[in-house]
This record gives sequence, C-alpha cells and structure tokens, in this order.
Amino acid sequence: MEIDGKTRLYGIIGHPVGHSMSPAMHNAAFAATGINGVYVAMDVADAGRAVTALRELGFVGVSVTVPHKEAVMAHVDEIDPVARRIGAVNTLLFYRRPEGHEVVVRGFNTDWQGSNLALAGKIRLAGSRVLVLGAGGAARAVGFGLVEAGAEVIISNRSEDRGIALARSLGCRFAAPGQLAEVRADVLVNTTPVGMAPHVDGLPIDPALLPGFRLVMDIVYAPLETRLLREAAAAGCQVIDGLAMLQYQAAVQFKIWTGRQPPVDVMRRALLERLGA
Ligand code: ATR
Repeated sequence: MEIDGKTRLYGIIGHPVGHSMSPAMHNAAFAATGINGVYVAMDVADAGRAVTALRELGFVGVSVTVPHKEAVMAHVDEIDPVARRIGAVNTLLFYRRPEGHEVVVRGFNTDWQGSNLALAGKIRLAGSRVLVLGAGGAARAVGFGLVEAGAEVIISNRSEDRGIALARSLGCRFAAPGQLAEVRADVLVNTTPVGMAPHVDGLPIDPALLPGFRLVMDIVYAPLETRLLREAAAAGCQVIDGLAMLQYQAAVQFKIWTGRQPPVDVMRRALLERLGA
C-alpha cells in the first residue's frame, strides 16, 4: 500500500523507542488487511505535549510505552475502566463523537488482555491458580488481567514490600521467594527480566519446582526460548513464549483502532522476522 494523502497515522511514543517491534507488527497488519495506514516510532520526552501534538496532527491510534504509561493518563479525555484500575495506559484512540467536531482521546490498557489471550489459548483461566513472579508494571497488568478472568493469583517478588503492595491491590496472596516450594498452582508466569540476554542462564524459580505447573509463560522474548521455558518443557509443562503477550496486546490495539479482526499470525511472523528467529 502506498502512502498518499489519505494514509491514516499511527505510532508509538516512548523513550527510547528505537528498538520497538511494534512498527513491524502493525505495518505488517495494515499491509495484510489492505488498510491505508502507517505506524511510526516517536521518541518523546513529554507525554502531555506529545498527546497535544498527536491530536493536532490527526493521528488515529498510538501505543504508549515506557516511561509514559502512567504519566499519559493525566492528558487523555477518557480512560477505560480497567486501565484506570491498573493505573497504566498503553493505547490511545483519537476519535470524534458523532455529534461533535472535537477530537476525543481515549486511553486503554491492552497489556492485560494480551496476557489473558495468550494464556487462554492453552488453559481455562476461570478457576485456575496462577503464580506470577515479579511486581513491576508487567506483573500488575498480568495480575489484573488474571483477576478479571476469574483466576486465583499468587504474587511472588524479590522485594517483599513491593510484592505485598501489588498483592494487596489485586486482593490476592503474596508468597516470598523462599516459600515457593509450598505453593501449588496450575500456571507460572515470569514477568521479571531474569533469563534475558545476555544473562541467558538466569532462572527466576528453582527448576525443581517446575513439574508442579501445567503451563509456564515467560514474558522475556530475547532469547525466544529462555532457560525457564526450556526447563519447563523438559519437565513436561506446556510453554508460552514472550512474543505471545506482545503479539496479542498489539492485536487488541489493531481491533480498537480499525474495528477489524487482527491478523494475529501475520503479526507474530513480523515479530519473528524482526527478531531474526
Ligand atoms: P516492568 O515494568 O517491565 O515489569 P519493573 O517495574 O522494573 O519492570 O519490574 C521488574 C520486576 O522484576 C520487579 O518485580 C523486580 O523485582 P524487585 O521489585 O525486587 O526489583 C524483578 N526483578 C528484576 N531483576 C530481578 C532479579 N535479578 N531477580 C529477581 N527479580 C528481579
């Protein structure tokens, strides 16, 4: 599709964004569905000034990444209720109400849906028990998604105070890393960077505990097969790699921005190509 006078504008704001894989995913999705759109990466220092500029320039949809996911919330007109509960927005939609001429900016969070869609392909989440390792922004989105889907969540984190605070805001249990041998759960999700290149030998949990889980998801995607996923597969668990959440959160963005069904396989292939995998 050629860029012309009618090309719709999409993109990502963050700092840094030079290594973002979102342009590859979204531009591949536009090409595959014949949508006249283009998605670019924008390195932005100030989220508020960026939203003003994007609104004026006529952007339709914008992803928001680190460090702007919380700060951007003060600069949008509407916030989806789940995004408000999570306290982070990763997706902006610019639209006009049928009766009005002004552009309205609505913030969403698709990270939690990305995680749920990735997991729901392998297991019924309602009633499942899920151990989430980590207590940062990713753990928060994953945890809220799981609670939303009716799963029972247990948070574990290196820094206990941070882990207990997240568990409290999710209304779930906290287990210290030293107590994990006593935890029984169907699913394990790693949201920490442990195992990420160049420290590929890192393991976020004692591998002796892996046979206790049916399903293990890692959000680390470099390498694609982390040591955690390799050992989990060897222990007989089903595994979900770190591209799945990324792919599905982008697929939900595509649906929000275009109203069309996202070409999820095309988006995954774009990610794999981008990674050289
Ligand atoms: P994100 O927003 O991507 O989730 P983050 O807010 O920096 O990133 O959170 C990273 C999470 O990984 C935290 O839970 C962190 O634990 P602390 O709260 O103790 O800092 C966890 N983490 C990072 N490096 C870790 C390591 N080497 N071992 C165990 N946990 C680690």
